[in-house]
Amino acid sequence: MPFVDVNGLRMHLIDEGDGPPFVFLHGFPLDHSMWDGQRREFRSSHRVLIPDQRGLGRTASQDDIVTMDQFADDCAAMLDAVGVAEPVTLCGLSMGGCVAFAMLRRHAARIGRLILCDCRALPDTPEAAENRRKLADRVLVDGPRVVAEVMLPRLFGPATNERRPQVVDAVRNVILASSSRGVAAAQRGLGARPDCTPELASITVPTLILVGEHDLISPPAEMQQFAAAIPQATVKIIPGAGHMAPQEDPAAVNAAIREWLSR
Ligand code: MLT
Repeated sequence: MPFVDVNGLRMHLIDEGDGPPFVFLHGFPLDHSMWDGQRREFRSSHRVLIPDQRGLGRTASQDDIVTMDQFADDCAAMLDAVGVAEPVTLCGLSMGGCVAFAMLRRHAARIGRLILCDCRALPDTPEAAENRRKLADRVLVDGPRVVAEVMLPRLFGPATNERRPQVVDAVRNVILASSSRGVAAAQRGLGARPDCTPELASITVPTLILVGEHDLISPPAEMQQFAAAIPQATVKIIPGAGHMAPQEDPAAVNAAIREWLSR
């Protein structure tokens, strides 16, 4: 079943395996394929649900801005559409982590366990938000190439850049194939995202914080600092990886998740 109808969208959705539901939310401006390593691992034990979020991947939309709240409402509606009522394990990377925070605010009962990968709880500075707005405008003129140029040099750890160029190429191809409108809309939504730090202390579900040792966008020190405010948080740093840790070193990330799930 590749597509489900969700909030007026034809949402592309990977829905594989049987067992407790495990939802993966991709980063910006990516798609389900960034989770291929986790999809292969966890479909033997879980029902793995991996949407292409609004306007990205194969899920088209005409929005000018997509807020984190809208992405979260889509995720909750997706769960309704596929008949998942029980609390899920929710795993989000970067923008997907911001969506997970919005899920906690708006649909907390849907989350049984939480995994935040390579993401920030802080909002953009006014300058960073302004840069995002400018980049969104440029994407509409020049296409997603401009986002690839800005982001690719910052996404990966040295081990990936030097020894696994196929991972870099795969991410580049996803960005280049994405819709300019969808990329601009998500970029504007990221620029408008709220500060999630006041909510950290009220996260009551078991939480795993995963971060690549060389993540430049959501550095380990920043994630460790916000993890300290979450009552039931476990932090795992993935050696050698950058911002795309689950894609750069799926074996290490999967082992960390399995170990944490087994507790
Ligand atoms: C992501 O991976 O979702 C992005 O790096 C988020 C961002 O642009 O800050």
